[in-house]
Amino acid sequence: MAGNKTFSMIKPDAVAEGNTGAILKMIEDAGFKIVAMKKTLLTKERAGQFYEVHKERPFYEDLRSYMSSGPIVALILEKENAVADFRKLIGATDPAKAEEGTIRKLFAKSIEANAVHGSDADETAENEGSFFFSHTERF
Ligand code: CMP
Repeated sequence: MAGNKTFSMIKPDAVAEGNTGAILKMIEDAGFKIVAMKKTLLTKERAGQFYEVHKERPFYEDLRSYMSSGPIVALILEKENAVADFRKLIGATDPAKAEEGTIRKLFAKSIEANAVHGSDADETAENEGSFFFSHTERF
């Protein structure tokens, strides 16, 4: 059975440019319920922990710096088939390859500053949600 929750972050570039509201509207219009939401600033260390799976990648250092360069908005989202449907809504990691009408096509600046994050699997979604939210912060 497909899980019904995913985790997302609105990244520093999108928050700084005032795109938080527009992105949240697209998320809600696509049928996702916002279960938890928090605006926060990651330290470089915490950004590194969040993206630990990428620590051998050449972009890891840059990614840590970028993700701690300004506040982000963390979200737990609920919908049937949430992980796959959300990845469809945000589009490809590289905005040059993202489909028309996707969040990244509309708001991403580059493959790194790509406006939003979306979990890649149900188990990742659970772990990433728990990185930011306690169970008393989910409604
Ligand atoms: P995200 O989906 O949050 O997962 C890992 C992030 O690393 C990705 O979005 C981008 O922000 C960044 N990233 C992935 N690939 C590259 C790349 N080739 N160069 C720079 N940053 C990347």
